[in-house]
This record gives sequence, C-alpha cells and structure tokens, in this order.
Amino acid sequence: MLLFPIQMFYHIVRAGLLSLLPSSKKDLSKEVVLITGGGRGIGRHLAKEFAKQGAKKVILWGRTEKCLKETAEEISLSGSECCYFVCDVANREEVYKQAKVVREKVGDVTILVNNAAVVHGKSLMDSDDDALLKTQHINTLGQFWTTKAFLPRMLELQHGHVVCINSILSQSPIPGAIDYCTSKASSLAFMESLTLGLLYCPGVSCTTVLPFHTNTEMFRGMRVRFPQLFPPLKPEIVAQKTVDAIRTDKAFLYLPWTMHALVILKR
Ligand SMILES: NC(=O)c1ccc[n+]([C@@H]2O[C@H](COP(=O)([O-])OP(=O)(O)OC[C@H]3O[C@@H](n4cnc5c(N)ncnc54)[C@H](OP(=O)(O)O)[C@@H]3O)[C@@H](O)[C@H]2O)c1
Repeated sequence: MLLFPIQMFYHIVRAGLLSLLPSSKKDLSKEVVLITGGGRGIGRHLAKEFAKQGAKKVILWGRTEKCLKETAEEISLSGSECCYFVCDVANREEVYKQAKVVREKVGDVTILVNNAAVVHGKSLMDSDDDALLKTQHINTLGQFWTTKAFLPRMLELQHGHVVCINSILSQSPIPGAIDYCTSKASSLAFMESLTLGLLYCPGVSCTTVLPFHTNTEMFRGMRVRFPQLFPPLKPEIVAQKTVDAIRTDKAFLYLPWTMHALVILKR
C-alpha cells in the first residue's frame, strides 16, 4: 500500500524524463519482416519503408498476386531483398502452411506486421451475414493465426516484434462500419493482452498503431466532418511513423498524436 504510490510516482517521472530524451533506434539490418496485406495501400508503403530503413528481408503476404508481384519487384529493384507469397490470413490452414514455407525458403520472421484488413461498410441490417463474418475472420482472427505461427520462434530466439495496424475507430467507432469497428476493437484487446503477456519476455515486444483516416482504397469516398481540421493522413507518413515506432519499441502509436485528445474526450 505504501510502496504502490511511490512506485507510481517513480514510473511517471521516469517516463516523463525518458520522453524528453531522443530514443535510440533499433538496427533493422538483421530483421526479416513479414507484412500481411503488403501488396497495396499502407502495407505496400510499409514494405518500402522497411526496405529503405535497411531491413534484411521483406516478405509480403496477400491475396492478389498482381499487387504483391509489383511491390516485390519495385523493392527488389531498389536493391533490397523482397519476396511474396499468396496467403489469405482468414484461412487458418493456409496461414500455417505458408508460415512453414516462409521458414524453409526465407528464414525466421523476426518482425510480423499484421496489416491486412477489409471493411464491408454497410449498416448491420443491410449487411450480408457472410460479409460480416468475413470481416471478423480477416481483421481479428487472421492475427491469431499469424501470431500463433510466428511468435513461438521469436520467443525461442528471444528476438522479435509483433505489430498491428489497428485504427482509431477501435476506440471511437462510427456508424456505417459496424463490422470494421467491432473487428478493430477486438483486435485492440488482442494486442493489449499480448503486449502485457510479453512484458517479461526478453527481446520480444509489440507495437499497435492507431491511425486516423488514411488516403488509400479502403475508405475512398468517405466524408469527414471538418476536413480542413482533420485531413486524411498520407499512407507513406503512416508507414514511416510506424517503422520509427517499431525501432524505438513504442507500444502504442496514435496517428496523428492529436487523436489522444479524442480518446480522452470520449472517455
Ligand atoms: N485507410 C484508412 O483510412 C485506415 C485508417 C486506419 C487504419 N487502417 C488500417 O490500415 C491497414 C491497411 O489498410 P489500407 O488502408 O492499406 O487498406 P487497403 O488499401 O484496402 O489494403 C488492405 C490490404 O489488406 C490485404 N488483405 C485484405 N484481405 C486479406 C486477406 N484475407 N488475406 C491477406 N491479405 C488481405 C489486401 O490485399 P489483397 O486484397 O490482395 O488480399 C491489401 O493489401 C488495415 O488494417 C486498416 O484497417 C486504415
């Protein structure tokens, strides 16, 4: 009882002081990065950013071979090692099978980026049941399978990072995307639980990124109130800030940082 407030005070002061100091960045030159949904959108920019910041190898997963091939070729042309595998993260058996293929052909994945997601974009009553299920299978359960496939080896090696590209909608849902908001809220709970569970596992950590509306295909045409005040983010900026957050071992990243206020106001 006596120690608890003292410890709290110590950790708050320590965190405050550490946030003022420039943090050292992890070297990526030995990292093998796997990005789900790496063929297009934010995933594509993440792949390019990891390659730019010196990752040893970048592996792309997705369903559309054309996009994966184009992105892998672009990265390979810039001089970095990049390959792709067609894999639907909603299909548990396929995830485990392709994870084995990756281990055999490329090596141990040390940074897993769970980025793949879909949005159905209709109200509950207008939504087809299968479409509602599909969103949960891809956005939420897909992460269970990929994490189960790659985390055990990271723990063995005492070296690894699990990343989730979540969304601010996990904490501040909107109508009209009920499938997506539910899946992202569930995925946030997954990451919070995983992050706490890995706190005492040396060398293995987590980063959850919660971006605001970003300029990709996913929410193309979505109208935001006060667009001048809240312009959409550029996917390349989301990618760059995500890689920086991974390199500085940041557990949670809100993009833009002003979204902290939204979460506090909502609470
Ligand atoms: N755009 C935004 O406003 C925004 C805001 C906040 C957070 N986010 C999050 O950022 C991440 C990337 O979104 P984005 O904006 O880049 O969307 P996007 O352009 O629609 O890209 C989605 C990616 O996910 C892949 N994907 C979808 N279903 C898949 C499956 N079953 N298996 C494997 N890959 C699958 C897609 O590739 P294939 O179709 O080829 O499989 C594609 O590469 C998502 O997690 C999203 O929730 C986006």
